[in-house]
Amino acid sequence: MNETITPRRFVSKMDSDIPKHWLPGNEFVSSLLNAYTILVPANEGFYVRTLKECMPQLHDQRLRERCAKFIHQEAQHGVAHVRYWENLDDQGYRFRVFERNVDKLVFRTMEKLGPLWLRVSLVSCVEHINAYVGHEFLSQNVLADADPRIKDLMEWHFAEEIEHRRVAFDLLQHMAPSYPVRLLGFALTVGLFYLLMGGQAIALLRQDRLLWRRKTWTQIRSHLGAGHHMLRRTLRHLLDYLRPGFHPSQMADDTMAEKVLTRLAATAPPTVVATGRTQRKAWEQAA
Ligand SMILES: [Fe+2]
Ligand SMILES: [Fe+2]
Repeated sequence: MNETITPRRFVSKMDSDIPKHWLPGNEFVSSLLNAYTILVPANEGFYVRTLKECMPQLHDQRLRERCAKFIHQEAQHGVAHVRYWENLDDQGYRFRVFERNVDKLVFRTMEKLGPLWLRVSLVSCVEHINAYVGHEFLSQNVLADADPRIKDLMEWHFAEEIEHRRVAFDLLQHMAPSYPVRLLGFALTVGLFYLLMGGQAIALLRQDRLLWRRKTWTQIRSHLGAGHHMLRRTLRHLLDYLRPGFHPSQMADDTMAEKVLTRLAATAPPTVVATGRTQRKAWEQAA
């Protein structure tokens, strides 16, 4: 298996003229991914703390290195999405109390109460969700007409989720390989993930007074049904995770993710830069 994971920083500016609904004609998908943006930092903070706690127990050097790169990537995702929160604040959205409550009541509580093997199982399941969300948005080119700044932010994140999609699953196999542990993580994660993301998307649409507009429901139907087929495809991906022989490598997305990341690194100035010292220096000299 040839797996390369490169930590990168998202360096594009989040200008103040980014529109509220940055995917033209689709306020629903704009709100859904804004909800994703709001939930990402606390979620990824949870992954990072969980993997760091695993490190002393990891004697497989290759797996340790992959976990370290995973941690770097997730930390950078959090930083980039938090930068975009300032735009959401300026646009008048109220989400900070919700975000703090989710962090405290879900992630910090799970950390206090949940054993490490269970937390690794939760991370493994959310990472599968992140990978297939990335797969669907990139392979269907859902964001083709989006504002380029947010398109780049989301597509960079999706591509890196695909790039490191095997790490948490392999860590789970290493720490707690039993199938019931995977099932338990799945049962606790899936409902909560969609409840939080769907609930926050609905809250944003309500704040915009768009929730009860007929066109919004047409957009929801199209995203879930005949347009992007997300309901059917999501169910298929979820069932896939339950197959005893499942492994994230079976989703052959590496070339697609690599193309996105190469494109983002090749813009002038680059949208993303590798965080290694040499690459950073090259970027700083070019800027
Ligand atoms: Fe991430
Ligand atoms: Fe991830």
